[in-house]
This record gives sequence, C-alpha cells and structure tokens, in this order.
Amino acid sequence: MIDLLNKLIKDNKHYSYKGKAASYIPALKEANPNDLAIALYDLNSNKEYYAGECDKKFTIQSISKVVTLIIALMDNGKDQVFKKVNVEPTGMGFNSIVNLEVRDSVRPYNPMINAGAIVTTSLIKGKNEQDKLERVLEFIKKVTNNNDIYLNQRVYASEKETGDRNRSIAYFMKSTGILSGDVEKILDLYFKHCSIELSARDLARFGAVIANDGIIPWSKERFLSREICRIVKTIMVTCGMYDASGEFAVNVGIPAKSGVGGGILGAVPKKYGIGVYGPALDEKGNSIAGINILKDLAKTLDLSIF
Ligand code: DON
Repeated sequence: MIDLLNKLIKDNKHYSYKGKAASYIPALKEANPNDLAIALYDLNSNKEYYAGECDKKFTIQSISKVVTLIIALMDNGKDQVFKKVNVEPTGMGFNSIVNLEVRDSVRPYNPMINAGAIVTTSLIKGKNEQDKLERVLEFIKKVTNNNDIYLNQRVYASEKETGDRNRSIAYFMKSTGILSGDVEKILDLYFKHCSIELSARDLARFGAVIANDGIIPWSKERFLSREICRIVKTIMVTCGMYDASGEFAVNVGIPAKSGVGGGILGAVPKKYGIGVYGPALDEKGNSIAGINILKDLAKTLDLSIF
C-alpha cells in the first residue's frame, strides 16, 4: 500500500503546477502549492498508510461544514435541521448568493455551501460562544484521535477581515428569517471553525469514523449514529465537491468534502477513511492534484461506491 501511495504522489504532483493556492483569504496564499499528501485509514486492518506531506497542518476550511452538519444533527435532529437547510446540489459556486433569493427563499440549498453551513453553525448548542467553539474542537479531537487541534489565529483574522461575502449571505438569511440570533456571533464561530488546523492523517481518521458508520475504529466506541453517517455521506456525494460534485461522482465515486485550504476528506463505506492535502486549487476551489490522486486511487483499488 505504501508503494502505491508513493507512486500516486509521484504521478500526480505535476497537477499542482496547473492550480493556485486560494488567495481570497490572504493568509491561505502562503501555503506551498507543491505540497501533496495522501493518508488512508484501512478499516479492515485498522492500519494507517500515508505518503507525502502527511503531517503538515493546514486549515480545514469547508471540510468543517461536515462537522457543523453532524453537530447540528446531533443537537437538533434531522427534521429540525432540514427545515432550515435543504439537501439539493446547487450547480453554483460555494459562496453564491443568487439561489437564496431566486430559487428558494426559505432555505439555503444544502449544508455544504457557505449559506447552508452558516445555518448549521447557528444550530450548534452551547452555554456561550466559547462553549460552542470548544464543542467543535472537542468533536474534531475525538474523530481525529488527536488532542493537538487548534485554531490558526492568522487565518481566522484573515477570514474575518475579508469575510464580507459571508456577511452578506448571513444578513440576507436573517432578513428572510432563516437565521435567528446574533449574526456577528454566528459568523465569528463560522470563521473560527474554518480556521481549525489539521493534517491529511487527521482527515483520514475522521473519514474512517464516517466510513465505519459512526463507530470509532481504534476504540470501537459508537460515537455517531448510523443514520447521521448515512445522511452525511449522501450529502457529501451530491454536494461535497461543490459544482464539481457530479464530475467527481463519475470519475471517483467516493463520498468526499473539499476545502479551500487544499484538504479533501473521503469516506469509502466500510473500507477506508481518506485524507488528502494539496493546496493548489482548480477554478472551482477543489485541490487539483488532490482530485487527480483520488481518481487514480479509486481506479486502482476499485473504490467507487456506484
Ligand atoms: O467561507 C469561506 O470562504 C471559507 N472559510 C470556507 C470556504 C471553503 O473552503 C470553500 N471551499 N472550497
């Protein structure tokens, strides 16, 4: 397996020259666009395999949308959550505003775009804002089996400073009544959870928990319900790679979620958790070498769920 992963890195590295690290959040531009890493957690053997810059930390960005969806579902149940956010693919960019007014003014299209994740963020319960953030951090520590999980303060500051599009989305949703409460506090939590740092190996462990239907593979503890894992994997397939989700389903066929930090989380049901890191992005905001490495991996190991 290690030989295969090293070969995949070697074969796909050149794609990173065709992409660019995200620059709309200035601190993200500092990543090395040539980094590429892949980590696999094998549920069969309970072993981890990895290659490339697998321990390098990067910010989770939109992969935190999976976390906030899961916590919102645990805190409120699926009926309450899906009253506020729909589950349909958008065909639009991750930060698009247009659907909110012209296609469905009641709910954002799905929890994997910014509008939907701002709603799931607002549904996280806690005594106060610090407590809510702690809950997100604790969740990530648990599913990554790693206590060394922190916010990147520079990325957080940069997100907050440049987050006007997210502010527009959030205030628009407040005007239509989807979002209730203090918009600035909700946005602050959103910016914070996007700025949490982890590595490709951390993502592989997180993917393994989802792939294992919510039972933590290294401790055998049931942490998430089967139903939540089923819902999350389904939404990852239909919406996880933004407006490239259809193409990704055809070419790769793995429930996955990307982030503009360059990470991709993958969960192959009952088989593997996958973490990929490659900060050079394509025009849709997905890791360009990351997508190609997953394409090769899925083909070689016959991982498509379809
Ligand atoms: O809301 C934002 O702009 C970012 N913090 C997260 C977006 C993101 O990762 C979209 N990904 N492809």
